[in-house]
Amino acid sequence: MATTHLHESFPAFHFEGDILPAALPLNQAEVVNGKVVIGGLAESLGRAAYNGLVLAADKAVELGSRAEHAGPSRFAFTEEPSWREGREASAHDVRFGHMNFEGPDGDISRPVAVKIFEGDLEAAMHEYAATRLVRQADLIRTFNPVGLAMVGKNPALITDFEPQVRSFDNFEWGTLLDTQDDPDMLTAIIEKCALTLGLLHSTPVRNPQEDDVVVPSHGDARLRNMAWDQSGLRLVDLETFSANTFTVQPDGGLSEEDSVRLHEVVLRDLLLLLGSLSERGVLAENTLAEKQAFYDEHLLGVYRMVLRHPATDVGWKHLIDFDILQEGINFDLENFGGS
Ligand SMILES: Nc1ncnc2c1ncn2[C@@H]1O[C@H](COP(=O)(O)OP(=O)(O)O)[C@@H](O)[C@H]1O
Ligand SMILES: [Mg+2]
Repeated sequence: MATTHLHESFPAFHFEGDILPAALPLNQAEVVNGKVVIGGLAESLGRAAYNGLVLAADKAVELGSRAEHAGPSRFAFTEEPSWREGREASAHDVRFGHMNFEGPDGDISRPVAVKIFEGDLEAAMHEYAATRLVRQADLIRTFNPVGLAMVGKNPALITDFEPQVRSFDNFEWGTLLDTQDDPDMLTAIIEKCALTLGLLHSTPVRNPQEDDVVVPSHGDARLRNMAWDQSGLRLVDLETFSANTFTVQPDGGLSEEDSVRLHEVVLRDLLLLLGSLSERGVLAENTLAEKQAFYDEHLLGVYRMVLRHPATDVGWKHLIDFDILQEGINFDLENFGGS
């Protein structure tokens, strides 16, 4: 019997509208009072209010906009429902398809992903800005933002669709764990996730208040929000990204309160990853001591190596105490089995 896919019973999603000029180039993200912002973004989206699209400056140039030349003026998105397969683990019901741009030089079509934030403009702007911020440092890949659109009255983040990217929740975990035939593969995946978190936390963020350090964190650092493809590691879903700001005291350290918060912030990402591994049944058969030793080596060990590495420009690495992180991980494994 033929399998019926869910998408076959719904009509493909379609929307279209005007492309609006941005108030400012909309590429340069910065952290102001702990919030990631891009100047002119809210104003530009205000103009887009209904069914409009504001393009990122680099995309506008790619699509033929120049000062003396208007660039595309209309867009239309048509869903390719089959592209969703394997990407359904999505709270926002992300859709994939072609976006057609109607311009003076004819039509250009690009494959894109559309992530709609039901009525939540702040959240859409935040993810757009956070993605720009992470890309600026060029340490870790993310999906490439095309712009922000209003789909009716709902804001949406539009990114270039990259079909080769499969998040780690798409691995055949059952097979991998059942057969135990490739422990190296399992270790490799966990180390790649640890590397991803190390790189994210090391992302240098330009910072208007000179004495502050900014420590980026993901906030939902589960397997489903990290990926790996032939071009490397990838961070997915920056909706819960935060730029955590800490004030360095005259003696070069943090206040007690800030130090506790710093360790909580980075530990939270590590524990979310650990929880999503346990959910998949990783090391389910092992003793507590074996689990603790494994994660000490492959999760914390790799993470620590990235943060301490001379090539990562982590101005705050002396503020972190890896023993506290190790205790946090061991406590979590002991009391909650890692989830
Ligand atoms: N531009 C893109 N190209 C390929 N896959 C994408 C793209 N954007 C999102 N995805 C995939 O869609 C799924 C959901 O995206 P995500 O950003 O995590 O949204 P949500 O908040 O709904 O979880 C993930 O599996 C992610 O890898
Ligand atoms: Mg997600």
